[in-house]
Amino acid sequence: MTGSQAGPPHDPAGSARAKLRPEHYDYFAGGAGEETALRENEDAFGRLALLPRVLRGGGDRDTRVSVLGRDWPAPLFVSPTAFHRLAHSDGEPATARAAAAAGVPLVTGMAATTAVADVVAAAREADPGAVVWFQLYLQPEPEVTAELVLRAERAGCSALVVTVDSPVFGRRTRDLRNGFHDLPPGLAAENMRDLPGVPPGTTRDIAMWPAGWDDLARLRELTGLPLVLKGVLHPEDARVAVDRGVDALVVSNHGGRQLDAAPASVEALPAVAEAVAGRVPVLLDGGVRRGTDIALALALGATAVGVGRPVLWALATGGEDGVREALTALREDFEQVLALCGGTRPQDLTADQVVARGLPYPPYGPTAGQGVPRGLAYRPRRGERPW
Ligand code: LAC
Repeated sequence: MTGSQAGPPHDPAGSARAKLRPEHYDYFAGGAGEETALRENEDAFGRLALLPRVLRGGGDRDTRVSVLGRDWPAPLFVSPTAFHRLAHSDGEPATARAAAAAGVPLVTGMAATTAVADVVAAAREADPGAVVWFQLYLQPEPEVTAELVLRAERAGCSALVVTVDSPVFGRRTRDLRNGFHDLPPGLAAENMRDLPGVPPGTTRDIAMWPAGWDDLARLRELTGLPLVLKGVLHPEDARVAVDRGVDALVVSNHGGRQLDAAPASVEALPAVAEAVAGRVPVLLDGGVRRGTDIALALALGATAVGVGRPVLWALATGGEDGVREALTALREDFEQVLALCGGTRPQDLTADQVVARGLPYPPYGPTAGQGVPRGLAYRPRRGERPW
């Protein structure tokens, strides 16, 4: 902070835009098609309101959540995003150090411009116990997937986040318009270097292809790491995933970058949470920008939420310090919202506290659920989630 007028930029995306080449800004900012899903992710949070509870007393606030056997300081993680060196020359290592210093687990992307081993090493510089997960696109050649998994394991990642919403690559309108199809010289998707089938020293493209449940089963046999499925929106997929032994889900529409007609993540969340019924953690990303968004998602059944673009904007404008400050500010904002909602722990936020704006809200109690806007009737109870 440089002075009393300083503070988080009012418009993080706008500040980042001023720093970036237009086609790089557009790559990060843009979505698929008409960018409906992109817009809706944020707008849907704006259509929801939180009903605070009062006079609940309670002791010290504690924002920790337990996810796959680890305590996270807050219900917040960094979602995978590609090409951090396009945002800032310090790239993923800066993001990793910042996230670790802020106590926020990081999901590093397969399309990172820094190899996973170097990302984890950077995180562990800031916090030897930092949680880093690796985001994976299953590849058509099993030996390529196996090598990527081995690298993530050796690097010290503690889970694999398998993105399953990309049987084909989304049509990113801005990239098509800008002719942005590849990284500039000097930058590469470093996890894709020296993989089976490519000449030594070179990288190969990440394949987007229609993998199936059998491919996921093969991955299950290949690694002891927990598997987190990212990009689940249909409750039946969530049910099947849990039945097949998936360890966690991320409700996500890929930041609006794949199917433009997909619903906003927060609108898809309640049905997925209901289908999962507390058997595994349900995470969410898409449109999370402030503490109230985190609180809304938690109330509707998420254990924790991810942020993608806000991290890129902070990286572009402030490098490592910027990311650390942005994540710390988000944690503090959530803690304040939790208190204002009458909670001391994330689990205190419940679905009966979420109502649609623009409508008088219905009564709650034993008959709650009748007349509740569709998707808002799921009521996780205290102690319902065993992880
Ligand atoms: C994207 C891919 C790389 O959304 O996940 O750009």
